[in-house]
Amino acid sequence: LLTFALCAIGCFLVCGIPCGLIIARVSAHIDVRDVGSGNIGMTNVARSAGAGAAVATLLCDAGKGFLAIMLSRLALAHFAFGGDWASTLPTAELGWMTTSLYALCVLGHVFSPYLGFHGGKGISVGLGAGLGFCWNATLSMLGVFIVLAVPSGYVSLGSIFAALSLSFFSAAFGVRGMALVPLCLVSATVVWAHRSNIKKLLAGSERKFSVRHKDSS
Ligand code: G3P
Repeated sequence: LLTFALCAIGCFLVCGIPCGLIIARVSAHIDVRDVGSGNIGMTNVARSAGAGAAVATLLCDAGKGFLAIMLSRLALAHFAFGGDWASTLPTAELGWMTTSLYALCVLGHVFSPYLGFHGGKGISVGLGAGLGFCWNATLSMLGVFIVLAVPSGYVSLGSIFAALSLSFFSAAFGVRGMALVPLCLVSATVVWAHRSNIKKLLAGSERKFSVRHKDSS
């Protein structure tokens, strides 16, 4: 349980790092919270700091989630379950520990301890952590995202429905019982983080995906 507690704290602290904020500040000298939607995620970095910064944000946000989950699974397998470093907890044992760590990755990003417990909307970090937690459910969610976001141009629309499908796909790929509870919490948190997007989508005033070009102010 001590290993789990340390992994939980680690996931929250690592995934709380606001990559988009740092990347936009360094690359375009802007505070991404003051521009566009005010979000610190890839979409708002794209519209306010450009394509390169957006790709870097996606890679860093997804990367921190993937790294946090994989290192935690290795630590749990080694210290708590007596396996060797090469064996992570198998997908078939997607118990409450793994889903709780996944939830803490997303919560760490949405309630970043480095930004007064304010943060992003949890999509990129969820993608990365999800690939390390249950890759087949995550790729299915990515499918939902693409089907909705690409034709409409609304990233938030794809994000919201991908988040809502989390428990469904996770259950389809082996997550059972209590282990689903943290996943429901993730869906609720991500939808809550998109509350301003939902209002705008309903009002028809949501911003479509756009990329800032170098010459635009
Ligand atoms: O992942 C965030 C996305 O779903 C919406 O971003 O900046 O348009 O609020 P944004």
